[in-house]
Amino acid sequence: MVGIKRKASDDVAEVDDRPGADSRLGLPTGGPGRIQPNPGRTGRTGRPAPGVSADGYFRHLYASEPDFKHLARQDSQFAAALQDNGQLDFSDPNATMQLTRTLLGIDFGLKLDLPEDRLCPPVPNRHNYILWLKDLMDTTSYEPPSRKLCGLDVGTGASCIYPLLGTAQRQWIFVATDIDTKNLDYARKNIQINGLGDRIRLLERKPDDPLIPLDEAGIPSIDFVMMNPPFYSSEEDMVSSAVKKARPPMSACTGAPVEMVCDGGEVAHVGRLLRESLVLRGRIQWYTSMLGKLTSLDALIDQLREHDIDNYAVTEFVQGNKTRRWALGWSFGQMRPAEHVARGMKASHWRKILPSSVMAELLVLPADEPVDPVIAGIQKVMGELELMSWRWEPETAKGLGRTKENVWSRAWRRKKLQDGREGDQNEACAVLTTEPKECRLGFEVGVVAGKAETCVSLHWREGNDPLIFESLKGFLQGKLKATRDQVERASS
Ligand SMILES: C[S@@+](CC[C@H](N)C(=O)[O-])C[C@H]1O[C@@H](n2cnc3c(N)ncnc32)[C@H](O)[C@@H]1O
Repeated sequence: MVGIKRKASDDVAEVDDRPGADSRLGLPTGGPGRIQPNPGRTGRTGRPAPGVSADGYFRHLYASEPDFKHLARQDSQFAAALQDNGQLDFSDPNATMQLTRTLLGIDFGLKLDLPEDRLCPPVPNRHNYILWLKDLMDTTSYEPPSRKLCGLDVGTGASCIYPLLGTAQRQWIFVATDIDTKNLDYARKNIQINGLGDRIRLLERKPDDPLIPLDEAGIPSIDFVMMNPPFYSSEEDMVSSAVKKARPPMSACTGAPVEMVCDGGEVAHVGRLLRESLVLRGRIQWYTSMLGKLTSLDALIDQLREHDIDNYAVTEFVQGNKTRRWALGWSFGQMRPAEHVARGMKASHWRKILPSSVMAELLVLPADEPVDPVIAGIQKVMGELELMSWRWEPETAKGLGRTKENVWSRAWRRKKLQDGREGDQNEACAVLTTEPKECRLGFEVGVVAGKAETCVSLHWREGNDPLIFESLKGFLQGKLKATRDQVERASS
């Protein structure tokens, strides 16, 4: 993250400007790197403070459906919203709004003020997006997950839900935008009642402004963009979808037309984000969006491929058996997300839209076979290669390597030998002058001991060339098999 410089701008209205704000948001600071506890969420037992150590708590929050009886015992307003049979009437906007307020209060210590005629976000679905983003950002950096990130939420809505959830869980800061005056007024209020004015900067945008206002806001770079776009291409489209779901067409459940409808629907809106990303490229590490229709995912992945963007991630968010949403992210950077993050759609028929796999199995041993000879074998093979770096961590049984070239191939060794000979003749080292400077492949070799077997795997962490990853996989499979055969021969 590069520091954000403040720049005055006519078309960007800065809403929150309280003292003590974070300098990277272009707001005055109260001290370096200061994260203040949120006054709205102190003093409740069982809920951890934001940070990586709280991840376990947040990850499992909605693994099962919320228990209404339990919520009613903790919140009398929620108890009053329940029907006599102890259920919630999901077709009643007041009841669903109360559920959102109650979950935000109990699970995150957040307060919420919403108008009746704007979108009321279902918390578990929005929380899923934040969980996925945490994994996306954590697995695409060599830095620890505790790093402080800056995100942009495009179209934050009246709730400002994503920045609220993000700041409740991690030491993150946000820029949040919207085009709707009412949404901006409420978002400002929600930032303020949660004491988050120094961590969330709100920007007013016009419908035709760029979605990503980096230059206008004087921000050189940010870590991620997130967006829940207007899904529908027309009001009729929105009304017919609401009718299918037996909901009032324009209620707090569905949102107002300004929130839910745009020309061309979500494919056009995310397409806009993609076009802007083609210009901004590495100034943002991850461009992401939620999607309401699976067909949109297909169309947008086609667009990514047309632009040769192969570093992308897709996932699906499933809430109960009712609602399904998807998310798509893409990056111009070199770091590749973990398998479960980038290929988060389980069914095999989605395979054609998924990005390349980043995991490969190198060797499987029975659980009772000693693993030390294999680890020694890995260390020896890596030690003999001319890698940029290789580091084995015994505590985690993982090794991280980086290479500029395919230094295990015969072709490379031949070239090296030849260059060396010429170098001897010319008294100059040709290898050094022709060697690329950049890392072409970052990888991790890991040994995981399970109950039935021990698995040695290769994980592609960095780089854009699937062929060099495949080549290393083949090389290591051969070497590890040879090591194991040798151990077997010696012990028989
Ligand atoms: C589907 S709502 C999402 C609201 C909130 N993020 C959520 O997830 O509940 C879409 C939001 O995008 C806003 N919006 C529409 N066009 C926009 C644009 N060009 N720039 C910024 N926000 C926009 C709408 O006003 C609305 O608040």
